[in-house]
Parts: sequence; structure tokens; C-alpha cells
Amino acid sequence: MNFDGTVSELLDFSDYESFPKYLAAIDRMNECFFGEFTERHGETAAKLMFLRISNALVAKYEYKHGHLAVLSRPLSLYVDPSNACPLSCPGCVHMKEPDGKQYIWPKGLLRPNNFGRFIDDFGPYAFRIMFCNFGEPLLNKHTPSFIQRARQFGISTALSTSFSVPGIDMDALVASGLWYMILSIDGASQENYEKYRKGGNLDVVLENIQRLVSTKRAMGAYSPFSVWQFLVFEHNQKEIDTAKEMAEKLGLNAISICRPNAVNQFDPSVLVPEHVPVEYLSFQYDGDRQIADQEACLGDLDAEVIDHHFRRSWVQRFEEDIDGGAYEPVATETRCEWLYKSMVMDSGGRIFPCCISAPSDRRRLEFSTLENQNPFNDSLFKVSRALFSNPDQYRELVDKIPPPDRGPREPFCVKCPVIPDQRDLHRDNLMQRMKESSLFEAITDDTCTNLFSWNRV
Ligand SMILES: C[S@@+](CC[C@H](N)C(=O)[O-])C[C@H]1O[C@@H](n2cnc3c(N)ncnc32)[C@H](O)[C@@H]1O
Ligand code: SF4
Ligand code: SF4
Repeated sequence: MNFDGTVSELLDFSDYESFPKYLAAIDRMNECFFGEFTERHGETAAKLMFLRISNALVAKYEYKHGHLAVLSRPLSLYVDPSNACPLSCPGCVHMKEPDGKQYIWPKGLLRPNNFGRFIDDFGPYAFRIMFCNFGEPLLNKHTPSFIQRARQFGISTALSTSFSVPGIDMDALVASGLWYMILSIDGASQENYEKYRKGGNLDVVLENIQRLVSTKRAMGAYSPFSVWQFLVFEHNQKEIDTAKEMAEKLGLNAISICRPNAVNQFDPSVLVPEHVPVEYLSFQYDGDRQIADQEACLGDLDAEVIDHHFRRSWVQRFEEDIDGGAYEPVATETRCEWLYKSMVMDSGGRIFPCCISAPSDRRRLEFSTLENQNPFNDSLFKVSRALFSNPDQYRELVDKIPPPDRGPREPFCVKCPVIPDQRDLHRDNLMQRMKESSLFEAITDDTCTNLFSWNRV
């Protein structure tokens, strides 16, 4: 059987009697096809391909069977190079007091050694990394080097920025190989722009765009693919057409007109219109160059770290790492995919399970820290997974967690309002990342869909 057929067979979990037998079958697949893929891609790239595919198989198995401790690592990563932001958009953790005061969001920049540890542990498994969550990534002068480092694991890199930051080192940003950049600009005049992007300066943003485009031209670079993201509010909707014209004239790759989340509970003057003319308009798109840029990093992979992970078989990991991980679920239909598919780290090394921000009195979303051996299996991750797969065990585990100094004892997941929205989390994005890479060319569309669709096939 060919590689795709083997992966597809492994996705039918019912064929395997137990988790260890499943892991042994994955190890056999890796041994059986390693020679063929080494010839095709070279040894390190082949190892990376096997790590990513086998990790995704294990992750889906663990999700479907409701495991509490997991062997898999996140498929998708979010890292904040900076917790700080000079703007204060309503609804964001940076909004002005009194609302902003409810969030505990210590300022600070991610240190290179902390990012190094994080990416060495998780980079070989993830398909994508987003360099932002609730901060302004370009405030950290190390952000381009973080991007470069992530590319040594062949990961697709992206970030979102207000671009309202003076003094950005545009040469370093473009040279980093950043693949995709969202520019958050909700208006075409300072007057309307700053109604949401409070403290933002549209002149600085436009000057940065000019510098970005001219730097890309001078370097002959296609990436970062740069998209003007325009969140539509009642106050700026009359500027949509002007923004489209400006984006094209400035030389950006695309503009995306989007429906924002409502924020009127924080600022009653900022309203989302009933009808938003959602649209994605591409001005400069060259699929071949985009893929070529993505592929370029395969020539500069970190062979040593990738080999360190590849050398450990899945059976060995099961024998050495797991503590009560294999689990028969009791109640299963509603689960949160974030707890198995993704992980978020802020610039201080705090680990969150997802991108939700919740006021401090109602949140226990800080699940771990980078200091811990494997944050993805820290007690609050296991407790939250138990919430969905075995409510009786959940109670037992919660009682064992030391209460925090302040705030609630239970994880935020108990009162999460968005679980039903998390079905097939990041599926299309993950599929796209796989399709764009020659590493995964042996995987057919059907298998790719099955690998990342955890609830709907
Ligand atoms: C919290 S921001 C952090 C990155 C950066 N500071 C920025 O604003 O682009 C992450 C993303 O959330 C988007 N965002 C901000 N307010 C939003 C809203 N009300 N609804 C939907 N997305 C929003 C931003 O535009 C950005 O793309
Ligand atoms: S620019 Fe981004 S991080 Fe800053 S306040 Fe606005 S949404 Fe939040
Ligand atoms: S259940 Fe809600 S709070 Fe918990 S990880 Fe999922 S999305 Fe986040």
C-alpha cells in the first residue's frame, strides 16, 4: 500500500484494539516509508514530514478518545512577541480603564531564550505559527529573528499588526521570510480610523506600508503577503471603497473587508452594522512565488533538533511520558478542539489553551507556564479535557488542584460560551498549509480533509 493509503487506513481508529497498538502501527509506517521520502526530500525534511503527519494522527486519536494527558503536541501555535500595545481598541485587553482594568496583562517582551525553548519543543510538530494574540508583535525588535527561527522548522509564519509603530526595521522584517501579514486598519481617514484604533496614527501606518512595499521591491521579495484588514463599523463603512483604492495603489497584496465582533458593551459609540459587505479582494497574487517562498525554508532546517524529536518512537513516548493518558471516554459529543489542537503563549511565558480573553475575576485561563516540562499536559489542561470526556473524574481532579491566590478554582472552560464554534478548528487553514508544501504532496485531498476534520468529514 502507498503512503497515502496507509495514513488513510490509520485514520480509521476502529481498526486498532488499543492506543499502544495504534502507536506501534504509526511507528511501522514511519519505518516503512522513511527510505522513500528521504530519497524524495532529503533526510531532515523527511523526518519533519513524518513528525507532522504522525503527530496529527495521534492528536486526532487522543481527541476522539478523550485522553486527558496527551502524547501529541499542538498543530497550531500562537505566540505574543510583545504583551504591550500602544493602542487601546475597545474590547481588547489594552482598552482604557475602567474596562481595561479587569484584565491582568503584564507588559513585557518575549526573550529570545524563552522563544528558543518553546520553538525547539513544539516547532517540529506544528503546521503554522501566528506571532500575535493580544499584543503588538512589531514592538519587539527580536520578532524577525523569531520568525527566522520558526522557519528552521519549516513552519508557515503569520502575524497581525496595527502597523502604527514608528521605527520598524523593515529590512529585517522582509528578510525574516515572514509569510503572511495582516495589517489592521479600520478606516481611510484619521478621524474614522481612530474611533476604533484608539491611539493609532494613520500617517505612521501609511508610511510603514510605503516602506514595506519599497523594501520588498528592493529585495525582490514576494513575502510577506500583506493584507489590509478592514473591520467594518457604522462609523467607517462609508470609507470601504476609498480603502480598497488605497490598498491597491499602495501596492498591498489584498484587502479583506470583515465583520468584527461586537464591542458596544465597552464603547456604545462603536457599532457593527447589521449588514457588512464582507469581501476579499486580491490585487497581486502569484501562487507559484508564494509556494516557492514557503519552500525556501526547507533548505535551512535545524537537523539536530528535528532528529532529537524524530529519534523517539511513539511507543517509546507512550512508555516513558504518559501518566494516565489512555482513556475511555464517558460523555463525548461536546469537546473543545483547542485543548488538543492548539496552544497559546504570551510574551511572559504564560500558557493559555486558546485565544479567549476573559476578565480576571472570571478566568482561569492561565493553564501553565513555559517553565514546566510539558505545559500541554499540565494539570489544568488535563482537568479541562476531563470536563468533556469524564465529568466524574473532572470533579475529582478539580478538588486536587491547589486553589489560586485569587480568582476562581475551576478552568474557564466550565463556563466557556464558544465551544460549539470550535468544531474543526483551523481545519481549512491547516489543510491549506499542507497543500502548499511539497513535503506533503503524497497526501491526497481526501486524506488531508480527514486528518484535520475532527468533527465533520
Ligand atoms: C488582538 S489583535 C493583536 C494584533 C495586533 N495588535 C492587531 O491589532 O492587528 C489580533 C487580531 O484581532 C483583530 N481584532 C481586533 N478587534 C477585533 C474585533 N472587534 N473583532 C474581530 N477581530 C478583531 C485584530 O485586527 C487582529 O487581526
Ligand atoms: S491594536 Fe491589536 S493589540 Fe492593540 S489594542 Fe488594538 S486589537 Fe488590541
Ligand atoms: S472550552 Fe473555551 S475556554 Fe476552554 S479551551 Fe475551549 S475555547 Fe478555550
